[in-house]
Amino acid sequence: MPKLAFIGAGRMASAIVDGLIAQKAYEPNDIGCFTASGNSAAGLARRTGIRHCFTLDSCLEDASIVVIAFKPQHLASADPRLATLTSGKLVLSVLAAKTLARLRTSFPEARAIVRSMPNTPAAIGAGITGWCSDIPLNADDRMLLIRLLRAIGSEMEVPEKQIDALMAVSGCGPAFVFEFTAALREAGVAVGLERDQAQRLAVETVLGSGRLMARTQAEPEMLRNQVTSPNGTTFAGLQVMAARDFRGTILATVMAAKARSEELSRDA
Ligand SMILES: NC(=O)c1ccc[n+]([C@@H]2O[C@H](COP(=O)([O-])OP(=O)(O)OC[C@H]3O[C@@H](n4cnc5c(N)ncnc54)[C@H](OP(=O)(O)O)[C@@H]3O)[C@@H](O)[C@H]2O)c1
Repeated sequence: MPKLAFIGAGRMASAIVDGLIAQKAYEPNDIGCFTASGNSAAGLARRTGIRHCFTLDSCLEDASIVVIAFKPQHLASADPRLATLTSGKLVLSVLAAKTLARLRTSFPEARAIVRSMPNTPAAIGAGITGWCSDIPLNADDRMLLIRLLRAIGSEMEVPEKQIDALMAVSGCGPAFVFEFTAALREAGVAVGLERDQAQRLAVETVLGSGRLMARTQAEPEMLRNQVTSPNGTTFAGLQVMAARDFRGTILATVMAAKARSEELSRDA
């Protein structure tokens, strides 16, 4: 019987399973997955070698950790037996906008509930997941959780009151970076490059700059200043960014995403 159970076997569950298996954090046989229709669970099991559980009971029986990885809208209609079948287990939810208090109503007997917000680079093991728990985790649970989340990148514990802010920065952030990259590509085309050249130059520049920031752990402003000579080409471009209030645009973008996240959490 699986020690780690996934309820839901879509993109997010796949990303976590791939990471766990790649890092040998679990044997495939120790992981099980269940979905109501069975369709994606069968596919995930076939692809990765984990167990496809045909019943919720068999999936959860021996599991110590249960990952809730269906869509937030599925929570209300999920099998009500999850309330008792998760008794004494650590429940990890990846459901956007579902608060710890709301999750506790569905998993009242869980030994602790973790609300997490992964982001899409999780699919290649390069995500960052923010998380909070409703009960302080004991040392063993903290270790289990961190091992699980590190399978898809890095993790950061935050108080629940910061989850909407985190959502706006790292949850939505990949889309903002993709939009910036697309804008850089379009600008490249506008100043004379072929589209495929501009696409490659923009993507490699974003990738390399991200790696440089991560590798040096330097403030981005410091790295920016290093490549900006007084009155040079980068300086000329940055002056336009400042004049057009680039930072103000990003601030408004993140504030709108946070406000929407708060709205969705209230309705959830
Ligand atoms: N994708 C991301 O980048 C991302 C980022 C952050 C958070 N999340 C969160 O991750 C969660 C899953 O997203 P996803 O992109 O992985 O979704 P997805 O690919 O659409 O997968 C949804 C899964 O839920 C299963 N399911 C549907 N109804 C169910 C039920 N009643 N009981 C059990 N399983 C059920 C589906 O099974 P069948 O297909 O077999 O019916 C499918 O495996 C969401 O809550 C989302 O907020 C995702």
